[in-house]
Amino acid sequence: MGETGKGTAAQDRDSLSPSMLLPTEHRPRIIVIGNEKGGSGKSTTSMHIIAALLNQGYAVGSIDLDARQGTLSRYIENREASNLNHDMGLLMPQHRRVYISEKATDQERKAEDEANLEEAAMSLWANDYLIVDTPGSDSYLSRLGHSLAEVLITPMNDSFLDMDMLARVAIEQEELKLTPSTYSQMVWEQRQKRAVDRQPPIDWIVMRNRLSHIDAKNKRDMEVLLGHLARRLQFRLAPGFGERVIFRELFPKGLTLLDLENQRTGVQMSMSHVAARQEVRSLLKAAGLTEERA
Ligand SMILES: Nc1ncnc2c1ncn2[C@@H]1O[C@H](COP(=O)(O)OP(=O)(O)O)[C@@H](O)[C@H]1O
Ligand SMILES: [Mg+2]
Repeated sequence: MGETGKGTAAQDRDSLSPSMLLPTEHRPRIIVIGNEKGGSGKSTTSMHIIAALLNQGYAVGSIDLDARQGTLSRYIENREASNLNHDMGLLMPQHRRVYISEKATDQERKAEDEANLEEAAMSLWANDYLIVDTPGSDSYLSRLGHSLAEVLITPMNDSFLDMDMLARVAIEQEELKLTPSTYSQMVWEQRQKRAVDRQPPIDWIVMRNRLSHIDAKNKRDMEVLLGHLARRLQFRLAPGFGERVIFRELFPKGLTLLDLENQRTGVQMSMSHVAARQEVRSLLKAAGLTEERA
């Protein structure tokens, strides 16, 4: 992991009034999907939110800030290919990838990251929604992305190991001690920055992903601990997604659980698909992203 030296981290914070000049009027509603762990379902969740909003008739822009890995971009390319090759008639977002700057100096990299994200966001500004997928590691570009969030959705794998993405948990003298992680601190900083800029606060939603039905006790313990964390770090807990193979099966066709009513997809809805779709809908409802227009 690329550890930023202390000096650099402090400088990063100091220059966190980025010079991104985004208009305040006619702004799309911006949903950022983020956490600092790979493989927790950010890109999968992003694609499902995009499809849900498109299917509700909204114009949706999407930005892949994890452009090198490019999972969301490939998901969208697969969707495009399904339309071209199989005439599925799937609704498409307006999509942009933003690569992290590779300029020589820290200052140049930041300036380029800001300029690139600003340009991408501006090109999508006319949409009703902007969905921003982020990489599973800290970077200035990822932080800039988080600074745009009106709603931040953090999927986390359903294990105690993944909880340290939010906070370090210890028991000292029979008291629960929670130390916010660098990610939680970063979210807190973006919240402060938005308050200074008089922007609406970030509604932070944490959802558990890949829930298994095996260990009920483990599940209850997680719930209790997450409840503590939610109060301490000020996020809301939303219903999560179960561990289901369907999520992996839909990717190559660029499909989501919210597209399967479309007969041209050729996917037969099973009971498990219906249950999975219900989970996605519950998340959308919790995040205020369902039918009724804002
Ligand atoms: N609920 C789930 N059940 C089963 N597999 C899942 C689930 N959520 C995500 N996956 C799979 O896990 C892998 C990583 O998901 P992805 O969305 O790319 O995570 P991230 O963007 O956080 O790295 C993908 O292969 C995806 O299909
Ligand atoms: Mg991803």
